[in-house]
Amino acid sequence: MALVNTRDLLCHAYDNHYAVGAFEVVNLEFLRAVIYAAEQARSPVILNVVEPHFDMFDAELLMPAVLAAAKRSSVPVAVSMDHCESVASVQSAIRLGCNVVMFDSSHEELPRNIERTREAVKLAHGCGVPVEGELGHVAGMSPRDGEGNQPVQTSASEAKVYVERSGVDFLAISIGTVHGQANGKKRLDYSRLSRINESVGIPLVIHGGTGLSDQQYHKLIDNGVAKINYFTALADKFVTTLGKNVLQKEVAYRGLMAGSHEAMVTEVSRVMQAWRSAGRAAEVLIQCGMWNNVEHVVVYDSDETDPAVIQIMLRKGQQKLVTIPGVLDVRIGRAKDDTSRYRYCWLVRLAHEEVIEVCKSHPTYMEYMKNDFSPVAGQVITNDYEILDEHELMRQMRT
Ligand code: 13P
Repeated sequence: MALVNTRDLLCHAYDNHYAVGAFEVVNLEFLRAVIYAAEQARSPVILNVVEPHFDMFDAELLMPAVLAAAKRSSVPVAVSMDHCESVASVQSAIRLGCNVVMFDSSHEELPRNIERTREAVKLAHGCGVPVEGELGHVAGMSPRDGEGNQPVQTSASEAKVYVERSGVDFLAISIGTVHGQANGKKRLDYSRLSRINESVGIPLVIHGGTGLSDQQYHKLIDNGVAKINYFTALADKFVTTLGKNVLQKEVAYRGLMAGSHEAMVTEVSRVMQAWRSAGRAAEVLIQCGMWNNVEHVVVYDSDETDPAVIQIMLRKGQQKLVTIPGVLDVRIGRAKDDTSRYRYCWLVRLAHEEVIEVCKSHPTYMEYMKNDFSPVAGQVITNDYEILDEHELMRQMRT
């Protein structure tokens, strides 16, 4: 698995003056093209799923494919949920497997933005997941933008206060970009960018990455931008190719799609070169920590003779434990061999090792253990196992 710790990844980009692309993925075509291009360019990449676009796809169906692509990839990958609007959506993004979240409260006044973002940071950090916050407002993403919600440029002095008080790891800033194609050239305020960078000293993020020149990208990166979000240009390549095929009177699926994969791959590769992330995969894999899930394993037996009592205890556990932040999945098992000393097990998949303590000290966990599990279970063995991928195994063998 080449899922890497996103904090390590973006700090590496920030320190080494390149930017990692966060390419929005709305279907399998986009996913396949972005991963293929990243592997060809040997570039780290962020696969970005965008909450305000949930009307375009089923996130519960798309996310397993995104994670599968990340895990089998030979280049470092992070999986992000973009523009989470509530703490509940941050929790569900983590449960879906994201290892970085963007929390967007940028339409609120500074104190309220800080307060809401701090809550999201508390939950995400408890799960080991870093958070990107936004200060100022990049227009064109929120449905509110249609109702006169104008872009607001980020103030450097407010940025310092926002970062210190909210605890965000990365800061999305507004210095002249908008989401999507702009009318005319996007004009960027580099002196504002440089002041923000000096005042916060953490990786900066540009939303609305479409439609900038290479020179503009370079100036952004030279002034602290370590992540660039990208969608519209990619979508335009896809749709334009399909449009051309329609004009050629292609109506069958294969003919209609012809060339669309290549068009997207070319575009992703082009910006990976411009953002200087191309060719960085190997050093990132060596220098950045991996993102490994943990399996909390409980094997136990019970003297209870009424199967209904055990059933109720198991059902309750499945329903309750999965509501704890950072718990990805709760499975129960029964030994095939009925004479086994430990006939039952729980397999509780946790997002990251930091969730172990959060989970065990969570009131839901403690109440369940005390009131439901312990009265029924007899002998119990528990252990937490880090799920090791190929890269982690190689790394551990080297050290
Ligand atoms: P563009 O659509 O302008 O590339 O911006 C994408 C974005 O910022 C998603 O958050």
